Formats: sequence, C-alpha cells, structure tokens
Amino acid sequence: MDVIFSGIQPSGSLTLGNYLGALRNFIPFQEKAECYYCIVNQHAITVPQEAALLHERTRNLAALYIACGMDPKKATIFVQSEVPEHALLGWMMICTSYVGEMERMTQYKSKARKEEAKEGFIPLGLMTYPPLMAADILLYQTTLVPVGEDQTQHMEITRDLAERFNRKYGEVFTLPKMWAPQGGARVMSLQDPSSKMSKSDDNEWATIHMLDDTDTIVKKIKRAVTDSLGHVHYDKETQPGVSNLMSIYAALSGKSYEDIERDYEGKGYGIFKKDLTDLIVGEMAPILERYHELTGSPELDRILDEGREKAEAKAHATYTRAIHAMGLYR
Ligand code: AMP
Ligand code: TRP
Repeated sequence: MDVIFSGIQPSGSLTLGNYLGALRNFIPFQEKAECYYCIVNQHAITVPQEAALLHERTRNLAALYIACGMDPKKATIFVQSEVPEHALLGWMMICTSYVGEMERMTQYKSKARKEEAKEGFIPLGLMTYPPLMAADILLYQTTLVPVGEDQTQHMEITRDLAERFNRKYGEVFTLPKMWAPQGGARVMSLQDPSSKMSKSDDNEWATIHMLDDTDTIVKKIKRAVTDSLGHVHYDKETQPGVSNLMSIYAALSGKSYEDIERDYEGKGYGIFKKDLTDLIVGEMAPILERYHELTGSPELDRILDEGREKAEAKAHATYTRAIHAMGLYR
C-alpha cells in the first residue's frame, strides 16, 4: 500500500490554485493509501510571520483540509510543529546537505531576492527549507507526494538527500516519488495570465480565494481579463486569459476543452463566465459552510490531537532508526 504525505504552509489565504493544484487531489488517496496531511507551520516561519496570525491560519488551514473532504478516520491530519521529530530529523538532513546545492534551488533564489529587497536580509531558514521538507516526507516512509509542478525541484533534492543518507549510513529511508495532477492544473492570475495565481498577489482581482463569498467570486470572474476575439477557444498563445478560465472550467466540470468549445460555440464570454462562476460557487459553497462549522469547534482540536498522536508514532519509529544509523545516541 502506498504511503502519501503532503503539506501546505499556513502562510496566507488559500487560492483556487491551491485547491485545484493541490488540496483537491489529496482527497481520493485516503480511500486507498495510508495518508499523512500536514500543516507545515515550520516552513511558514522561513519568512517573518506575525505570531497571532500564524496561529489563526494554522487552525483555519486544518479546518479547510477537513472541509474539503479529508476524513480524519481515513487520513492523519496534523500540525508539523507538534511532532518534534520533524525538526529533529530536519537538522540531520541539514547536516546531510551542501550549501552549493541549496543556493541553486530556484525557490530559494526567488524568495531570497524578495526578502532581501523587503527586509534587507535573507533568513537562513529559506536556505534550509528543502532539508526540512525532506525530513517531513522521509519520516513516514512515504512512497508518493501529491504536489503541484512547482515542487519538482524540492522532490528531486528530497530523493538526493535520502539516497545520500542511505548510502552513507545504511538503508533507512524509502525513496518517495512525486505525484502531479494530470494536465498539470496550473491556475494562472485572472489579471495577468502569464503569472501563477498566488496567495500573495498585490492585485486583489487576480486571485480567487477559497474563502471568498459568492458576490466576490462573481465580481472577480466578471473582471477577469479575456481578449477581443470573442470566441471560447483554447489557445494559450493567442487567448491566454480565456484559456486559463477554460482550464478552471475543465478542472471543475470534468469536461474536455473540445466539449467546452462546442458548448459555447457562437456564444460570448458573458455566458461562459456566468457558467464558470456557477461552477466555482457550486464547488466552494459547501466547503465554506463546513469550514465555518469547524473553525471554532472542539471537534477540530480532537481531530488534531488524534492526528498528532498517530503521526508521532510513525515518525518516531523512523527517527529512532535514523539516529541509530547516524550514531546519534549514547
Ligand atoms: P503555495 O501556495 O506555494 O504554498 O503552494 C501550496 C500547494 O499548492 C503546492 O502544492 C503548489 O504546487 C500548489 N499551487 C499553488 N499555487 C498554484 C496554482 N496557481 N495552480 C496550481 N497549483 C498551485
Ligand atoms: N514546499 C511545499 C509548498 O510550498 C510545502 C511542503 C512542506 C510540503 N513540506 C512538504 C509539500 C512535504 C509536500 C510534502 O507547497
């Protein structure tokens, strides 16, 4: 049976991109695999966070996981910082890493540049982000990691570090594979379809947040950039805006681009956008309702307490093997 591990940072309000590219794809695995879904708050602090906000977002993200259909009876849902083995093995993976390979990571380079411009320094945690992510994954003897395409390099370094450790100290870790959704489901900005839809976009019209209300979604889709060609047709080169909206439509309806083109032949963007809005709202409304039930409830704490216990049991077994392999015991 496969072991699945994935995580999302509680560092902002999740977007439709996070949902279609990551969160939604976590759910089906729980029927057929041993699943660990983590709220990676220790990754979030690789850039400065406000304490009260981080705390709130951690709870909210857990509620959102469950609202999306994650079933705590089938999957282990937990907060990274509550299982200390993550940081402990993280340190061992840092000591297995080389400065050169970390400096070459594309996410490091772009985030380092951004932080230096904003704060005047580069937090060291940004550089040690990948070995911590490797520790997350390796602690559970994970076989498959469902993440978006942008995590490819992090998955490669995770395998490199596992292999390096196994070669030097003996076979402790399973080598995990990345699982990316078919078609790559990369949702682009509604205002600039050449850049990814992101939690941290300054233009509020660019991003649909999972917690947006119906009215806001209606307005954002109405304002989404299209073109003057006036026909619903998939071509990323000539109609990037429309193609992005079509890819959201396809992901939510299960229809192919050909089907969508046929359905909207001779119709304008207005009708297409209206139907797309209905699809988004139809998917999000029940999630939102469940989310609001959960956030303040003691049920959420029960689920996370139980998740921590189950995660810790498995993590501790691997961690014990790793410290013995490395000679890190008395
Ligand atoms: P991040 O928002 O960068 O912390 O990403 C969390 C997860 O969501 C990762 O697995 C990403 O690959 C995925 N993701 C983030 N933004 C998008 C997007 N616009 N389209 C598809 N997947 C995304
Ligand atoms: N780096 C991932 C992201 O930004 C988050 C993450 C941390 C993660 N640890 C993980 C994803 C382990 C999968 C498995 O999306």
